[in-house]
Amino acid sequence: MNAQIERAVEHFRALLEEQEARARRLEADESASGGEHTGKTVIGVIGGDGIGPVIMAQARRVLEYLLADEIAAGTAELRAIDGLTIENRLSCGEAVPAGVLEEIRACDVLLKGPTTTPKGGNLESANVTLRRALDLYANVRPVRISAEGVDWTFFRENTEGEYTLGSRGIELPGLAMDFKVITDAGTRRIARAAFEYARKNGKKRVAIVTKANIMKKTDGKFSDVCHAVARDYPEMEVEDWYIDIMTANLVNPALRARFEVFILPNLYGDIITDEAAQLQGGVGTAGSANLGSRYAMFEAIHGSAPRLIEEGLGDYANPESILRAAQMLLNHIGRAGQAERLQKALEICCETERKCAVTGDQSGATCQAFGDYVLETLQGLEG
Ligand code: IPM
Ligand code: MG
Repeated sequence: MNAQIERAVEHFRALLEEQEARARRLEADESASGGEHTGKTVIGVIGGDGIGPVIMAQARRVLEYLLADEIAAGTAELRAIDGLTIENRLSCGEAVPAGVLEEIRACDVLLKGPTTTPKGGNLESANVTLRRALDLYANVRPVRISAEGVDWTFFRENTEGEYTLGSRGIELPGLAMDFKVITDAGTRRIARAAFEYARKNGKKRVAIVTKANIMKKTDGKFSDVCHAVARDYPEMEVEDWYIDIMTANLVNPALRARFEVFILPNLYGDIITDEAAQLQGGVGTAGSANLGSRYAMFEAIHGSAPRLIEEGLGDYANPESILRAAQMLLNHIGRAGQAERLQKALEICCETERKCAVTGDQSGATCQAFGDYVLETLQGLEG
């Protein structure tokens, strides 16, 4: 046993040294400027696994339509990136094969279909690997319930917390330990992103959500740093909430419409955004942005739905979430007009008119038919 403890201590020392160096790099990056901008925006389109290629085909059609002028003028390019499949990842033994990562790095922004993460084994999640490799620190997840005036935007820290060392915990006989990492600089940048968003979008209330009563060191730091950043935004009403009661608040119709912007460490953000999306209409209805200072990746918040594929229902997958992600992408690349048109079309197709609804099985429309409907609606909006 002693030898095992010694090995674990060595492992822990290496992790500490590595994370301390990362924290210092992050601090140095704080004063660096963002990425370079060229005249052309390259949008990498990654199908992913399971229902990914099905829903992505519709998102691609919509982007091709909305960006037709830019594509024709050569200022935007939709570039298919094929190798991020579970088959290829398993055969290379890499979460994101090196060649694929190189193709990805040659793009400016990405629209990514869901990728399968095998349970157990050694293959890490492609999502987590990409977020880390491209330093996509802000996971931004909007959720709306229009009938109630709910308009939430979650800023989930995307590279730290429980995810930094996710697969590198310690196991001794009868005992396992994982690690959670929070840094000042890593927290400052997510807090800054949330407060900037709030200011630019006329939001007044920001909730810092942690479990700092129990996770005293990490969540305590997260909360303190968020409050320090908040001092630069004196017009905001800043509140502290614990994740457990906030989870309850979101299902409390008497209270929930008062919340606007949320800042959370990684794992709480992961969990609560599924709950929030379900309240909006299901995880199939929510888009998500992963933002860094150089790259940005947009995706659905749901997974690859292998069950739908096994049951032969892949064609009935709902593309709404990836279309919402495409809308966020358009906004991000400065195409606010096109983003707004897509938002209007989705409002008509998913909320007000609903001429053709996807249910996930033969009782509803196919993904392709829904794509047709969105395109027709978009065309109708022009006139
Ligand atoms: C998400 C997903 C991912 C996460 C999985 C697929 C690794 O649940 O984007 O919310 O845990 O972040
Ligand atoms: Mg999740």
